[in-house]
Amino acid sequence: MNPFELKSPDIVITSPGRINLIGEHIDYNGGEVLPAAIDLKLKLSFKRTDTEEAFIFSKDLKESFKLNLNKLQKGDIEWHNFFIGVVYYIQKKFPDTIKGFTCVVESDIPFGAGVSSSAALECGIAKGLDKLFNIGLSDSEIITFSRDAEHNFVGTKCGIMDQFAVVKGRKNSLIQLDCATLNYKYVPAFFDPYCIVLLNSNVEHNLASSEYNKRRQSCEEGLKIIKEKNPEFNYLAHVPLLIVQEMKPQFSLSTYQKLVYVIEENERTKAAAKALEDKDLNRFGSLLFASHQGLKSKYEVSCKELDFLVDYASSYEGVLGARMMGGGFGGCTINLVHKDKVVDYIHKIGKAYAEAFHITLTPHMVAIDDGVKWIRNEK
Ligand code: GLA
Repeated sequence: MNPFELKSPDIVITSPGRINLIGEHIDYNGGEVLPAAIDLKLKLSFKRTDTEEAFIFSKDLKESFKLNLNKLQKGDIEWHNFFIGVVYYIQKKFPDTIKGFTCVVESDIPFGAGVSSSAALECGIAKGLDKLFNIGLSDSEIITFSRDAEHNFVGTKCGIMDQFAVVKGRKNSLIQLDCATLNYKYVPAFFDPYCIVLLNSNVEHNLASSEYNKRRQSCEEGLKIIKEKNPEFNYLAHVPLLIVQEMKPQFSLSTYQKLVYVIEENERTKAAAKALEDKDLNRFGSLLFASHQGLKSKYEVSCKELDFLVDYASSYEGVLGARMMGGGFGGCTINLVHKDKVVDYIHKIGKAYAEAFHITLTPHMVAIDDGVKWIRNEK
């Protein structure tokens, strides 16, 4: 038997990647973000077995591993830890619910590209196990168990945005999410005549996770100092810019710039949501470019390849807005491109990028789609 084909699975789940239009590095600072689930997805097929073990196969990596359900410890191989972590948190709250199973994972989400293949995997595992063993997990449990697995088993101290978007995503809608309260509303994603094009730089800097955690730490330290005089603020994104400006001498220059970035980006996100409501796409696009400048110069999470792509986009007529997307240090840029120009744009920017860096750019035209779901019981 080919281990990568699961004959008559009990449950099949699809779990999407996510984009974020604007509001980057804002979720863990309690501000607003504007993400959506997309039509690049993982497929996870599950089948119950009568054992104490799980057998997990990755079709893309052509690798498999065996997981002892009674001994859930963080391992050395990153992708194993997604499973170990999610199973751990489900078992912790709902002991003895998960029995033996086989799972085959296949993906068309590019890995390390800033579209959160991680959250797609975590939430897909949680949703699949929930259905397979009738556990009755709520959406918020799927979101938080997945986030906790990422923090403590995978090792990135991420915010809530990715898991939230993967679970709550809805076709043709953006999610305007307030990360302090987790209140959210769906906003129609109406960009016509512009399309959403992701350009994968195909660079993945291995600093991504450690630098991410450092940014989060700088924000937390900055907030702690702000709170000494202003205890009413529980989230950095809520602090007025003026307060940070007045306290400038108390921060290192690098921390100061990070704090300013967060407050400005949160304001940009609110302005972008308003621009969408007003159907002012030009304003929306210019906020995307401004977001990139902040991520590059103040928050310092971009890299030369991403900057090149956004610079190119800003000089190309037909691109409404573009910026790096996700944690940074590589991955994709998100571009809003006029539908009549998409082919020409992809061709020209790909050529320029190859000349500059000798790297092939991978474009993805994406549509906004539903969140993680149980597509069928194939038995
Ligand atoms: C990663 C994290 C998210 C968020 C983004 C940056 O995708 O997982 O929580 O912080 O980076 O906006």
